[in-house]
Amino acid sequence: MKIGIFDSGIGGLSVLHRAYKMLPDMQFIYYADEKHVPYGEKSPEEIRGFIGDIFDFMIARHADAIVIACNTATSAVTHEYRDSFPVPIVGMEPAVKKAIDLYGDDDKRILVAATPITIKGDKLHRLVERVDKHSMVDMIELPYLVRFAESGMFDSEDVDKYLQDALSGRDLSLYGTVVLGCTHFNYFKKNFLRLFDGKIRFTDGNEGTIRQVCRMLPDDTELGPDGGTEFYFSGEPIGAEQRRFIERCMSQLEDVYGIE
Ligand code: DGL
Repeated sequence: MKIGIFDSGIGGLSVLHRAYKMLPDMQFIYYADEKHVPYGEKSPEEIRGFIGDIFDFMIARHADAIVIACNTATSAVTHEYRDSFPVPIVGMEPAVKKAIDLYGDDDKRILVAATPITIKGDKLHRLVERVDKHSMVDMIELPYLVRFAESGMFDSEDVDKYLQDALSGRDLSLYGTVVLGCTHFNYFKKNFLRLFDGKIRFTDGNEGTIRQVCRMLPDDTELGPDGGTEFYFSGEPIGAEQRRFIERCMSQLEDVYGIE
């Protein structure tokens, strides 16, 4: 059994990192579409074109299930399209419902941070309309966090400055939860904590997504013997430098893993 996980870039590694914790013996294919990142600043039509090629790639490499580890790509693709492929496909959406279920009663507002495509997309607006009964949810586009992540600038002052500017018009004391609505944003939990003086919690869709994958696995799924991951950047096997970058990303994700 092999699970294909893809994202526009290194954001989906946060889903893979969670998958390693929950399914340590599973085999994975990780596909970062580095040629086309960032998706969040492109049109939904363009993104749909990239996704079709990636699904075909995953199926040709015998993925038994595919995870769209990207909120932006999920928001650009329809259910009907996903259902037209011969393997189960699990998408991601910002964990707004989880934020409301866990923290909706504490009188603090909830800030959904994501890419422009996700924030403008109908899917997110329909979701918020459905679950935000007391109008506690605000949204913000933070496209540059994707660029910072892709250049390996995780804990830097430039990121702090960007976040400060992007949120400068808001009263931060009103917020109790940030929904990390883009998988690339997981790298920046410490920057968000600094901005909110430590008084913020996070939700993301990573655990829920892997849980959903687990529910899909047949009971007699053969795992292992010892897992392993094949990595590709836009269809090409990765080289030594890219492998080092992925290792750095994984160690950053391990560093922020317990922050919730
Ligand atoms: N990581 C992706 C997401 O979850 C998008 C990043 C991008 O803009 O490419 O939305």
